[in-house]
Amino acid sequence: MMFKFPHNYPLKNGETITLDLLKSSEYKDVHGFLGRLADVDRDYLKYDVSNLEFVKNRMAAIDQGTRISIGARNKDGLLVGEATVYWTRFGWKAHIGKLRIVVDKDYRNLGLSRYLSQLIFFKAQELGLSKIVAEFVRPQEAARHILGALGLKEVAVLPGFAIDNKLNRHDIIVMAADLENLLDKYENMVWDDEHKGG
Ligand SMILES: CC(C)(COP(=O)(O)OP(=O)(O)OC[C@H]1O[C@@H](n2cnc3c(N)ncnc32)[C@H](O)[C@@H]1OP(=O)(O)O)[C@@H](O)C(=O)NCCC(=O)NCCS
Repeated sequence: MMFKFPHNYPLKNGETITLDLLKSSEYKDVHGFLGRLADVDRDYLKYDVSNLEFVKNRMAAIDQGTRISIGARNKDGLLVGEATVYWTRFGWKAHIGKLRIVVDKDYRNLGLSRYLSQLIFFKAQELGLSKIVAEFVRPQEAARHILGALGLKEVAVLPGFAIDNKLNRHDIIVMAADLENLLDKYENMVWDDEHKGG
């Protein structure tokens, strides 16, 4: 299934959100969005996202063809959610997309991360990727719940392998799926016609 970007999506609370592919030039918005996260969320992110140059460099991968990001903006244009899939161009893992999703705390439990994930999975398949992998630390319980509901399966645990920025150790949970299997499952879902096409 193809989706047109940008398009609108109604959240469970009735608020309308606009979804669009992010451009590398929007790195300041992404940095600002990640900066608004609560400390507890930032502690579990893989990288130190308080560094603007770092976020800029990561976003530059969009132009290099090794990353796609979908941003969700509220009616004021503020970024309130983001899903990213990134991959390497060469080698063993060139067919595997790594997923990361983040949603603003004021917009949680409204179905946004599920929708963002599904959108980005369709886009990842369009770009030729065949597997999706997500890694997170054990305290990120919501991530495990959502990814399980989306059809990813736990494939590995790296015990105590993550060291967060407060030097606490955590198990890394790895969840994964074949994109084709996932997308077959989603095709049966009801989508608003206006989102399809192009
Ligand atoms: C994980 C995250 C993206 C979820 O975003 P969201 O938009 O609130 O997700 P959704 O609204 O689509 O779904 C929330 C689901 O998680 C469940 N959930 C919420 N908190 C939970 C918890 N602590 N434990 C288990 N499930 C939880 C909700 O009940 C809901 O499930 P349901 O729809 O079956 O009722 C958001 O919490 C976040 O940004 N966390 C910090 C970053 C992170 O952990 N990213 C994941 C790394 S890949």
